[in-house]
Amino acid sequence: MSGVLSGQTALVTGGASGIGRAIAAAFVDSGAQVVVLDRDPAVSQEAAEALGARGAVAADVTDEQAVVRAVAEAEEQLGRIDVLVNSAGILTQSPLVEMSLAQWQQTIDVDLTGVFLLCRHVVPGMVARGFGRVINIASQLALKGGTSLTHYSAAKAGVIGLTKSLALEVARDGVLVNAIAPGPIETPLVDGISEDWKQAKRAELPLGRFGTPAEVAPTAVLLASSPGGDLYVGQTLGPNSGDVMP
Ligand SMILES: NC(=O)c1ccc[n+]([C@@H]2O[C@H](COP(=O)([O-])OP(=O)(O)OC[C@H]3O[C@@H](n4cnc5c(N)ncnc54)[C@H](O)[C@@H]3O)[C@@H](O)[C@H]2O)c1
Repeated sequence: MSGVLSGQTALVTGGASGIGRAIAAAFVDSGAQVVVLDRDPAVSQEAAEALGARGAVAADVTDEQAVVRAVAEAEEQLGRIDVLVNSAGILTQSPLVEMSLAQWQQTIDVDLTGVFLLCRHVVPGMVARGFGRVINIASQLALKGGTSLTHYSAAKAGVIGLTKSLALEVARDGVLVNAIAPGPIETPLVDGISEDWKQAKRAELPLGRFGTPAEVAPTAVLLASSPGGDLYVGQTLGPNSGDVMP
């Protein structure tokens, strides 16, 4: 992958952990200048230093003013943002009949509204320059649902809908918007999921195992690259161990 993104600049949300961190690392390896965005400044900074990224910014992706500030800082560090990766996300589990409105709203806020806010404040610059790539990390659970995951599945289905609609709005401006819907991936996000759920999930996967973040990152490199990513518009790519075959 060496050099395939050389000359490109990227902002990766959730870049301090899991899939976002692996994408940030793969982008750096591919020659991109990367700024890591995560919630906590020290955590963001640690990741950026460990990965050899250009810089770090901190924001809660649900806080519009913080997002505006972080995007401005990232643009200052990078000159411009060519590629936006939205990987920040949370996952909790609860049957719908027991779910509080607060739990529902927190998931929608982080996993869906956070994507809206980053797109809202990064995409106008891309449109003005006539070039950009947006890569939203959805989930296969958007496509097939998951027990005790109505809030998460709904948010991720929302991300896929947002991706398609924004792709239609800005493709002719040179901005390509796509999603990645990974299957279960070994990251801190799934630490909180019950072992029973994980065992049952592994058993039903055609591949028989969860993926690793490093196995998802090359899909993001493909979408960010040219000519590799040039014909993907509003697509949802599925590195998912065969769990969903759309
Ligand atoms: N791990 C999986 O099985 C899996 C599968 C499909 C999709 N996903 C999606 O991939 C993305 C990354 O997940 P991961 O597994 O790498 O999890 P992770 O917990 O390892 O990383 C998520 C990162 O997002 C950050 N974050 C969370 N809330 C934030 C907020 N409000 N503002 C800023 N940053 C915030 C966290 O600090 C963390 O660094 C998520 O959107 C997740 O829903 C994960």
